Amino acid sequence: MAFNIAIDGPAGAGKSTIAKKAAGELGFMYVDTGAMYRTLALGLVAAGTDIEDEAALQRDLDAMKVEAVYQDGVQLMYLDGKDVTGQLRREEVGNMASLSSAKSPVRAKLLSLQRDVAAKYDLIMDGRDIGTMILPDAPLKIYLTASVEVRAKRRYDELCAKGEECDLAKIEKEIRERDWRDMNRDIAPLKQAEDAILVDSSYMSIEEVTQRIVSLARERME
Ligand code: DC
Repeated sequence: MAFNIAIDGPAGAGKSTIAKKAAGELGFMYVDTGAMYRTLALGLVAAGTDIEDEAALQRDLDAMKVEAVYQDGVQLMYLDGKDVTGQLRREEVGNMASLSSAKSPVRAKLLSLQRDVAAKYDLIMDGRDIGTMILPDAPLKIYLTASVEVRAKRRYDELCAKGEECDLAKIEKEIRERDWRDMNRDIAPLKQAEDAILVDSSYMSIEEVTQRIVSLARERME
């Protein structure tokens, strides 16, 4: 049977960076479910869908084909046959993903994509509801978090380094709003699974968090 590790937590806690590194050390695949929600969000933005209109949302989702392709440990996302991986990190797409991922037809469309890959491969999957909903039987679940201030500062440094607009107060406000939406939605809200291990990365280096997860995984695989 495949060994699955679920990592959940709020935006900016370092989930994808750490999951990628830990997966590399363990020889596991890394599955980024946020990128799947972002792919659908990109399609909804492009189609100009009013996501509050249930019929329009369902119609536009039905018309979209989403695929995840794994190449040399990297997840590429395809929308209607086109590689859109490079477009997914835009703020506009992230904000739409946060809004549209609260809609049940959006979650339903991605469920089998996530469970099918987990049934086949040893992997680390990160997201918001992996330990609670998608892989409730995963033998290792991590809830990775960090304070809002630390997460905002990390995002700020990342944007400034890229030469993009960076306003710390604005980023902090957006993180608070996104946390609130992700934690308070009716469907699949972000929360720590009862059997998940809490890791607060506020004052830990990426390497320290990675090693903690790798050693927990090795213990549980024995
Ligand atoms: O992790 P991320 O920032 O790429 O995720 C983008 C949005 O998708 C985020 O606001 C919450 C949503 N999401 C979700 O609802 N469930 C997941 N398993 C992963 C992401």
